[in-house]
Amino acid sequence: MNHKTIPAERIPELLRRMPKAELHMHIEGSLEPELIFAMGQRNRVPLAYPSVESLRDAYVFDNLQSFLDIYHAGTTVLKTEQDFFDMSCAYLARAQADNVVHAEIFFDTQTHTGHGLSAETVVNGLYRACEEAPQRYGMTASLILCFLRHLSEEEAFECLEQVLPLRDKIVGIGLASSEMGHPPEKFSKVFARARELGFRLVAHAGEEGPASYIWSALDVLKVERIDHGVQALTDPALMQRLAQDRIPLTVCPLSNLKLCVYPTLAQHNLRHLLEAGIVATVNSDDPAYFGGYINENFTQTFAALGMHSQHAYQLARNSFEASFIDTSARDKHIAHLDTVFASFY
Ligand code: HPA
Ligand code: ZN
Repeated sequence: MNHKTIPAERIPELLRRMPKAELHMHIEGSLEPELIFAMGQRNRVPLAYPSVESLRDAYVFDNLQSFLDIYHAGTTVLKTEQDFFDMSCAYLARAQADNVVHAEIFFDTQTHTGHGLSAETVVNGLYRACEEAPQRYGMTASLILCFLRHLSEEEAFECLEQVLPLRDKIVGIGLASSEMGHPPEKFSKVFARARELGFRLVAHAGEEGPASYIWSALDVLKVERIDHGVQALTDPALMQRLAQDRIPLTVCPLSNLKLCVYPTLAQHNLRHLLEAGIVATVNSDDPAYFGGYINENFTQTFAALGMHSQHAYQLARNSFEASFIDTSARDKHIAHLDTVFASFY
């Protein structure tokens, strides 16, 4: 694509209109307070907050753990397959409005089996929404199951066992929850098993944890993508590895801001990562909790870092290159991206 400069005042419109893939969002983190209250009522689950507003007001975090505690409380309202379907449809409708044309959705079953639900209830509800996404929302969607890293590897094996009958509904395996003290190598055996089973592999690493966790996600777990990965910038040899091997980072700027990884968006390193040749992408992580869906992440970060249209093109293109879609779908989306950019010249 031949780049001419698009004026700064048209960048927000460009960011909104460009087609993109979202590769890092936890479906449980898309539950808006209104939906938490509606589901709590229909499932007769009492909530610790008297109103939607008081719940939203509680969304002030000082680190990953303070967020995970409240996020976990929100998941208690999910009881039926229909709840998982409805939650996913709400996200897909919102993603479509942001011109997301493909989403790879994180979910976990361990939270829900811990509440007495079956893995089947969870996966079937989510998968039905993904299956209907092309007709309902004009986009594709697939599912990535994240193991919870604060639990044991043995529990991750049990989780993997439970989803084996649902194997065809899940494209990949990831690793989420409390990072510090739970390095990737804790899950080396279960990731090796997932690999043998043909799952695509990703892991959260280098969000709060050190660059060494990114090395072990790559070399021990053998993941293809790193979720977050922003701590890579502290390690020049790692930066070179990520750039050379074109290992994508699924960066979530508003999440990093809300969880105090960076004090302000102007201090975020997205622009550095991109300019160092890293295959970085922009994503929303837990949009109901962090103050915005994917386009909000794009527009606020571009404004804070003074990024321009070449960065926008690269980020959208990276999202397709980093995704697990087949090459014909990828080529089609990149051609569409080129058409949208051409319409701005
Ligand atoms: N990091 C780790 N675990 C998570 C996150 C995150 O940003 N969001 C939901 N689970
Ligand atoms: Zn995440």
